[in-house]
Amino acid sequence: MRAVAVQAFGATPEVVQVPKPTPGPGEVLVKIDYAALNPFDWQVADGLLDGRAPHAFPLVLGLDFAGRVDVVGPGENRFVVGDAVYGQAGRPPVGTGTYAEYVTMPHDSTIAGVPDGLALRAAAALPTAGMTALQILRTGVALEPGDSLLLVGAAGGVGSALTQLAAARDLRVVAVVRGDERERMRALGAVLAIDSTEESVREACGRAVPGGVDAVVDLVSADAESFDAYASLMRPGGAALSTRGAAPPGKGVNFRLTATGALLDALAAAAVAGEVHLPVDAEYPLEKAPEALERNRVGGARGKTLFVP
Ligand SMILES: NC(=O)c1ccc[n+]([C@@H]2O[C@H](COP(=O)([O-])OP(=O)(O)OC[C@H]3O[C@@H](n4cnc5c(N)ncnc54)[C@H](OP(=O)(O)O)[C@@H]3O)[C@@H](O)[C@H]2O)c1
Repeated sequence: MRAVAVQAFGATPEVVQVPKPTPGPGEVLVKIDYAALNPFDWQVADGLLDGRAPHAFPLVLGLDFAGRVDVVGPGENRFVVGDAVYGQAGRPPVGTGTYAEYVTMPHDSTIAGVPDGLALRAAAALPTAGMTALQILRTGVALEPGDSLLLVGAAGGVGSALTQLAAARDLRVVAVVRGDERERMRALGAVLAIDSTEESVREACGRAVPGGVDAVVDLVSADAESFDAYASLMRPGGAALSTRGAAPPGKGVNFRLTATGALLDALAAAAVAGEVHLPVDAEYPLEKAPEALERNRVGGARGKTLFVP
């Protein structure tokens, strides 16, 4: 089957032929309709997991997928052929990702049925960004209705999902973006969008929430100094969280997603209830994945990029 893989860490992703996988006991083979891009994909290609997680080359990239069960492996299984499913691949050894025509998944892993009322295309955009947003709200920052949340990097996948899910919980989202995204962020539910290329985030946030925000979620800062600058906009006793490991010890939470099938079920229910819908920024054939990964690295994401195998 066709797939997009790297032959070594640091190598350029390329289209390759790899064997079509066969589902083992308790697994399903999913024919992928859509895979979605996450920054993690190029971070893995660059070597994020080198020395940290078992992996195999050629390493097929990609976590997120939506498609249909094509073959059910032997033994117990909660899916049948033809079921619409979505989820997050990436079990070790890392290298059997979703930038491919097929992927195998254990039936009791991070895979869930796509309910009626949720299109496969919309489902494919959700897994990593949506689960991250949902889990940050559930366990990452403790917030009550009416509380304020400064969200840095709000225009991308996690930020778009978090803005909507937070607004549905009556949180007041102050979205930090680059570029004029005021209308789009307000449509997603933010009470205020600050263009960090045009105005001082400190001044604009201070005007909007004079006593300091209740929480800061930073999806952007890669170092402690940048993280601290945003965390300092928080009221005393507030919560600060980084998705990029930038929070220094004692000054905030370094969030790591724990993906589960139950979280996917909750996310699908939220999507059907109209609480979250991730805008699709671009849709390409799989062959365009190497270029799309390069573009995402530079920035400018305004939603999700999908690949059609
Ligand atoms: N720890 C975990 O478990 C976990 C889970 C999911 C994601 N993540 C990480 O969280 C980060 C965000 O993920 P994502 O899926 O949302 O990425 P994404 O879809 O690529 O979005 C990132 C967004 O940040 C914006 N941005 C970059 N620099 C900015 C700045 N200085 N000020 C304001 N906005 C800025 C980008 O747009 P512009 O370039 O136009 O500003 C883009 O809209 C990634 O680094 C990802 O790897 C971690």
